Amino acid sequence: MSTATVTDYVPDYLATPGTALAGKVAIVTGGASGIGDAVGRVFAANQAKVVLVDIDADRLKKVVESIQNSLPATGAATVVGVTADVTQEDAVQAIFAQAVADWGRVDLVVNSAGRDSLSPPVTEVTLDEWNATIGPNLTAVFLVCREAFRVMEQQESGGRIINMGSSSTRLASGPGHSPYRASKHGMLGFSKNILLEGKGKKIGVTVMNPSHVATPMTQIIDKGLYDGDIPAYVDGWLDEQEIREGIHASCIDVANVAEAALYVATRTPDVTIPTFSMYPTHKAHRYGMEI
Ligand SMILES: NC(=O)c1ccc[n+]([C@@H]2O[C@H](COP(=O)([O-])OP(=O)(O)OC[C@H]3O[C@@H](n4cnc5c(N)ncnc54)[C@H](O)[C@@H]3O)[C@@H](O)[C@H]2O)c1
Repeated sequence: MSTATVTDYVPDYLATPGTALAGKVAIVTGGASGIGDAVGRVFAANQAKVVLVDIDADRLKKVVESIQNSLPATGAATVVGVTADVTQEDAVQAIFAQAVADWGRVDLVVNSAGRDSLSPPVTEVTLDEWNATIGPNLTAVFLVCREAFRVMEQQESGGRIINMGSSSTRLASGPGHSPYRASKHGMLGFSKNILLEGKGKKIGVTVMNPSHVATPMTQIIDKGLYDGDIPAYVDGWLDEQEIREGIHASCIDVANVAEAALYVATRTPDVTIPTFSMYPTHKAHRYGMEI
């Protein structure tokens, strides 16, 4: 176990212990923050063996230690952290190879690694910005799902994959933001396709579409800047309440997304859940068109 102390990290979400995932092995990308952190937390609290993957080594260490400290000392649940960039093919293959070597299987995969792009109108989007968003939000999902399929299709019990989408998987709510929307639309199309490929192999694929969830991602938007020096592009995106109070004030709690992921993860293979959306109720007027 790590000897680091948890000083400046306070989890947003504390999961209720259970046994729903006893014996299951899960890989969660983006596990050092926000939704990935909360999903790792609820999976471990339900006795899964969890591999949290993230590119942010420092934060990952804190999250892993925090989850370890929250688990009963029975050894039924385990959480380990792997620092890796999930846009890299070799790294993704190594993560799955290690999980199989350690635990013999992978039952659950959650792709939560991602990056927002509050980018300006398309005329000002650089190729670097485009690639920086498509990489984690789409290419990484392909790489991780491909390895998941290679392992899960060998297992009698198959497996379940959850890909974190967004309202942006289907909706363009204002100008700007085109790299992010393209990445999430593409991810939905890819997921729909592999859902068909998983039929008969007991591999379920679900795109969860949350929006306005209280995580570091939405905290950054409130600061008015993204990636340090890029002004947040909010035209058509925020409503009057959000402009007045900030976006974070009206976000839904991350527990909603984590517990929905647990629900999806515990369905039997005869149940298919292609998509699962959840938004703050005050945004229903905007998202109504998606349903
Ligand atoms: N928070 C929201 O309101 C919201 C809304 C819609 C969709 N989402 C989606 O949910 C997912 C999680 O969002 P969040 O709010 O928890 O974000 P977050 O920024 O809090 O966490 C994302 C994590 O992904 C990691 N990551 C980014 N690129 C990576 C890479 N190449 N390799 C490994 N790790 C990488 C980051 O280091 C970070 O820890 C994202 O896909 C996001 O697009 C979030």
